[in-house]
Amino acid sequence: MSETAKLNIQGSEVELPLVIGTEQEVGIDIAALRASTKAVTLDVGYKNTGSTTSAITFLDGEQGILRHRGYSIEELADKADFLEVAYLLINGELPTKETYTQWDDDIRHHTLVNGDIENIFNAWPTGSHPMGQLIAMISSLSSFYPESLNPNLGDDARDRTIRRLLAKMPTICAMIHKKRSGHPIIYPKNNLNYVENYLNMTFKNVTEDYDLDPVVVNAMNKLLILHADHEQNCSASTVRLVGSSHANLYASISAGIAALWGPLHGGANQKVIEMLEAIKADGGNAKKYLDKAKDKNDPFRLMGFGHRVYKNFDPRAKIIKKSADDVLNKLGVNDPTLEIAKQLEEAALSDPYFIERKLFPNVDFYSGIIYRAMGFPVEMFTVLFALGRLPGWISQWKEMMEHRQPIGRPRQIYTGPVQRPFINLEDR
Ligand code: ACO
Repeated sequence: MSETAKLNIQGSEVELPLVIGTEQEVGIDIAALRASTKAVTLDVGYKNTGSTTSAITFLDGEQGILRHRGYSIEELADKADFLEVAYLLINGELPTKETYTQWDDDIRHHTLVNGDIENIFNAWPTGSHPMGQLIAMISSLSSFYPESLNPNLGDDARDRTIRRLLAKMPTICAMIHKKRSGHPIIYPKNNLNYVENYLNMTFKNVTEDYDLDPVVVNAMNKLLILHADHEQNCSASTVRLVGSSHANLYASISAGIAALWGPLHGGANQKVIEMLEAIKADGGNAKKYLDKAKDKNDPFRLMGFGHRVYKNFDPRAKIIKKSADDVLNKLGVNDPTLEIAKQLEEAALSDPYFIERKLFPNVDFYSGIIYRAMGFPVEMFTVLFALGRLPGWISQWKEMMEHRQPIGRPRQIYTGPVQRPFINLEDR
């Protein structure tokens, strides 16, 4: 294969080097394009733009492949524990028993948050959305750990900040839930593992014992792994972009959480349940809503359907669908929205509109049903996505910093008025 691409632009030819990835993906390196031709590329929504090389996650949307550092998502979800996957994403290799023990131990011993954090919660109006709170809470950690303000302090300081953030995230997520419910917060317990600790802080009530259900622990572990990273998606790109200005890790992750909140990204998991509930309340007619989704004059979209990169199936959705069945069966939950979800999926998968546009259920389509069966309120669903995605965001940020990538600053093609004289207010 030629190692360059030729571009004929306004009569002159330029040669652009190709960058070939380890999975034979081909990129055209246009770094010198503007200097030699004055032209830039235009790709609104970055549908064809590789923003970076990366050794973290490989995704083939046509074949439905997702691998982290070479390991398939199916194997990781089946055999690994979430902190193991977090280590893999952030450090590049699976931990040995020894490094895992140290990693797990460090994270367990950083789970407590500063007492002043609780005061911040007092400022939120009742019922404020958990994602808005999470954005502010994660950003506020930079005030409690000023060392993090300089992300260039060296490997040890960076590593401490990373471990701190991983450790405090479940505590903060659980605090948000407790505070919203008007319940006293539950402190972390160092004898519990990452997932158990989070569930305990969320569902234990101070007045009662709480028994961890292994089915729930296992499903939560799997769900967090399935969300752990997804290469250069909207929120990961946001983290990298904000981090590229050398904003601190907490601020960069907080920006990623904001990007995740939108209903076209992580916020879809809340919207899926709201949509299924609305269909149920409207008599359960899946076809009516399929027709609405197909109607170009109707803004309604089938939430949990479609994906920018998966054009065959989302491998995570396959695993989650099975998990939803298992969890609901084992917990004895009979959720009519699962039936509606299945009907909707079946109808959409045989409908030419969805087939032609390659629209399939994505990871969010079934995750909400599991979260609800576990007892999470709908507004917490996107927080759970953020909890799972945290190691991915951290690994993307760390890679960007280690590669000393320049500040992210796209160009544009200006389409506004050309220069014109200013007319004084009284003359307009
Ligand atoms: N329902 C109905 N039609 C849809 C849907 C949908 N969910 N998704 C895409 N389409 C249609 C579009 O109208 C468009 O049709 P057209 O070619 O006739 O104009 C075509 O399919 C292509 O859609 P785009 O919006 O151009 O595709 P894009 O890659 O920009 O968007 C996205 C992907 C945002 C995920 C989109 O499919 C969507 O809005 N889905 C619903 C929200 C959702 O589930 N988001 C979660 C994504 S996964 C994640 O972030 C974890």
